[in-house]
Amino acid sequence: MTKKLWIYPGSFDPPTLGHLDMIRRGAGLCDELIVGVLHNPAKRGLIPAEERVRLLEKLCTGLPGVRVVLWDGLLADLVKHTGACAVLRGLRNGSDFQYEQTMGQLNSRLLPGLETLCLMTDPRLGCVSSSAVRELLYFGRDISGFVPDEILEDVTAYGKQD
Ligand code: COA
Repeated sequence: MTKKLWIYPGSFDPPTLGHLDMIRRGAGLCDELIVGVLHNPAKRGLIPAEERVRLLEKLCTGLPGVRVVLWDGLLADLVKHTGACAVLRGLRNGSDFQYEQTMGQLNSRLLPGLETLCLMTDPRLGCVSSSAVRELLYFGRDISGFVPDEILEDVTAYGKQD
């Protein structure tokens, strides 16, 4: 039987509790989940991409069937390269839906047959976002409750560099 391989792409700058929730739930629904660290040209980076991969690997230790990759290109090309059958994304609200709808349509135009699957964000994590974490860091505030404990110290250290 064909393996159900999904990709969960993002910029993960930094990874948050919202991302980890999606990874755990996504991994439970497919055979193998690739967490893809990609470049979002619309976002200014705080943490170098290789470091985001390391942080995600730390979070995914012990999650069977999950691996992290760094991809410097289009998402559609990563899907083609890996032979994945779907892309997983999370929806927090209507704005996320509009963005994901457009991206999903664009990606399926780039790679016909590419499917985008969306899971509803856990409502307790609806206000969690990477940009909120970056802003809290900027103002020197505590980011626990936004970022998983396992990477709290690593991410906090980036705030001290600004
Ligand atoms: N709960 C809470 N928050 C969540 C969440 C969840 N379940 N899922 C996502 N989020 C938040 C993130 O924290 C992040 O917050 P931010 O907007 O403040 O940064 C936001 O929702 C989504 O970011 P993230 O999941 O990290 O990914 P992204 O939207 O930046 O990723 C790419 C976009 C990288 C997938 C996209 O730009 C891409 O595909 N790039 C490659 C180039 C390409 O192929 N472009 C498309 C064709 S031109």
